[in-house]
Amino acid sequence: AQGLQVAIDGPASAGKSTVAKIVAQRFSYVYVDTGAMYRTITLVALEAQVDLTNEAQIMNLLQQTQITFRPGEPVQHVFANQTEVTNAIRSETVTNNVSTVAALPQVRSALVKRQQEIAADGGVVMDGRDIGTTVLPNAEVKIFLIASVEQRAERRYLENQAKGITTSLSDLQTEIAERDYKDSHRAVSPLQKAQDAVEIDTTTLTINQVVAKIAQLIDEKL
Ligand code: C5P
Repeated sequence: AQGLQVAIDGPASAGKSTVAKIVAQRFSYVYVDTGAMYRTITLVALEAQVDLTNEAQIMNLLQQTQITFRPGEPVQHVFANQTEVTNAIRSETVTNNVSTVAALPQVRSALVKRQQEIAADGGVVMDGRDIGTTVLPNAEVKIFLIASVEQRAERRYLENQAKGITTSLSDLQTEIAERDYKDSHRAVSPLQKAQDAVEIDTTTLTINQVVAKIAQLIDEKL
């Protein structure tokens, strides 16, 4: 039988990519990080020094940019044409500007189309903000992951520390809250729980516990 489509949405730093990747491995599904696609076009636009609200110029750049993924540990490798951008797309500058680019309707429709093509044959775990509502409205399994902003800032803080970056916890909280606000209030496919999504609050759960819950939901549909 064909694999299912699994949609995992939720606010920033709720742990989506970590669990999505493990779930994909467990079922031998393809993992697609849609946030990485929005981050890549944001990086390309920043490097080209175009105004991030200039949709025509950004669309022009997007049409010239092949965004590809290659498997890797602990994170997938991301490429913009021939250039590896795996680390560059996680910079503070990209993180703090991505919501502006992701609000552009034409950018969204172009990336949504690419995402739908990747997921067309099933056997996919896709994480993002609008997967259950817009990209894969017929996904067999839809998850909405949430966690308190304090918990999410703390996770981000520890991740940064492991990378040798010192950040203030309160700055991280502000950044996360601002990004959530922008993502939830844009006109086109805002961050929203799909009606048929199962909400999982990860605040007090371990990664393994979250993975187990999602795996159970998939098993029920197989
Ligand atoms: O998932 P991640 O935090 O890397 O996503 C970065 C940004 O990309 C989000 O804050 C949001 O603005 C945008 N995004 C989106 N729709 C998606 C995935 C990400 O708008 N499906």
